[in-house]
Amino acid sequence: MDWGMANRLSKIIRPKNGRCVMLAVDHGYFLGPTEKLEVPQKTIQPLLPHIDSIMLTRGVLRTSLPPISDVPIVLRVSGATSIIGNDLSNESIITSFEDAIRLNVSCLALSIFVGSKYEHQTLANLATLVDNGERYGIPILAVTAVGKEMVRDARYLGLASRIAGELGAHVVKTYYCENFEKVIEGCPVPVIIAGGKKLAKEKDVLELTFNAINDGASGVDMGRNIWQSDHPVAMLKAVRSIVHQGFTIQEASDLLVKEKKIEEINTVVVKENKI
Ligand code: R5P
Repeated sequence: MDWGMANRLSKIIRPKNGRCVMLAVDHGYFLGPTEKLEVPQKTIQPLLPHIDSIMLTRGVLRTSLPPISDVPIVLRVSGATSIIGNDLSNESIITSFEDAIRLNVSCLALSIFVGSKYEHQTLANLATLVDNGERYGIPILAVTAVGKEMVRDARYLGLASRIAGELGAHVVKTYYCENFEKVIEGCPVPVIIAGGKKLAKEKDVLELTFNAINDGASGVDMGRNIWQSDHPVAMLKAVRSIVHQGFTIQEASDLLVKEKKIEEINTVVVKENKI
């Protein structure tokens, strides 16, 4: 692997332990102003010190993250669909390599829709991105998007993840499922998990993270279960403790309780001082 590719990849998957805590805030690219991500800058700012990388679009990057930030950027470059449109799988590449390089990104991300009407188009998008990624030393993260008609099981997610790896993706993001170790076993590159819709209980998020790591995931690319929480910083720190420090679910729960109190005090201080 060439120096540039290895260097960028090391900012996504940390070399010291092969793990990754990526914050996903790209939801607006097809969902618009998602709950608690209405003003991305406000959502992102307190979370920045606790993440390894951030996944977002160029529009949010340019408007919501200061250029002096040293957090590695995972730029979403597929889209051009919306939640009210005809078919979410009908994605194109929406950002040029030239602009991605200008933005000094560490990784590019796109969705693939295996089994959908536009399967071929999205897989061809991946192949083209990988060709350019190899040319310029930028790793590609393939997101295995799951259409309404697909079942989120190890068979489907394993198929989609393997295809992404075969087509040259450097990292794959998928969903956790039963028999997740099969998904990991069949995928030749590191796999990270999305959080999905906000779960009912905080402990569910910790369980999801713990089980995924235990089954071989390299980390998380989590969004709603972090920033839709009433205590996003505390939740992020608890998830991080599992990914990077090997905390058990109970240890992470204890940390969450402690960090929630700290976050509440900090919020009062910020409000009183109008910081
Ligand atoms: C979905 O298409 C987006 O790429 C999100 O980044 C992804 O779903 C992860 O976010 P969440 O944890 O909210 O599912």
